[in-house]
Amino acid sequence: MHKAVCPGSFDPVTNGHLDIVSRASKLYDEVTVAVMVNKSKKGLFTLEERMEMVRETTADYGNVVVESFHGLLVDFCRDRGIPVIVKGLRAVSDFDYELQMAQMNQGLAGVETLFLSTNPLYSFLSSSLVKEVATYGGDVSGLVPKTVLSRLTERLERDSQ
Ligand code: PNS
Repeated sequence: MHKAVCPGSFDPVTNGHLDIVSRASKLYDEVTVAVMVNKSKKGLFTLEERMEMVRETTADYGNVVVESFHGLLVDFCRDRGIPVIVKGLRAVSDFDYELQMAQMNQGLAGVETLFLSTNPLYSFLSSSLVKEVATYGGDVSGLVPKTVLSRLTERLERDSQ
C-alpha cells in the first residue's frame, strides 16, 4: 500500500489545504493528514476542533485518515511506515523554507517530499490570512468550506465579546 502524509497546523483547514489533500488522495492509497499539536503558539482552534474540521471536510475522499502529531514529523512517518510527505507550494516565497525542511527530512530519515503546485486560485491563501480577514469582517466564504466558515464566525464572535 502506498502511503503519504499531509502535515500542518490546519488552524483552520482552508480550500487550499483541501486542494492538496484531495489531489494527494488520488496519487496514494492512503493519505494521513497529520495535525500538529502546537505547543508554542496558541491557535484559534483547539487540536480537537482542527482535527474535527479536517475529518468533516475530507470524509468524502474515502482514503484519508486524520491524526495528531507532536515532535518530529519524520518520527511520525517512521512509526507508521509512511515514506512520503506531500506539500503544496504556493509561490517562490514558500520555496526556501520548504526546500530546507524537505532536505532535512530526507537527511534525517530518508523521508521524501513531493511538492504539488498549488491551484492558482489559492496561491495567496493561508490560514493566518483567512483569520485576519475574517476578524475584520472580510468575506472568506470562497476560501474555506461551509462548516469551517460557520465555526470561524462563531469563534470570532465569541472572542470579541
Ligand atoms: O501548517 P504549518 O504550520 O505551516 O505546518 C508546518 C509543519 C507542521 C509542516 C512543520 O512545522 C513541521 O513539519 N513540523 C514538525 C516538526 C519537525 O519535524 N520539524 C523539523 C522540520 S525539518
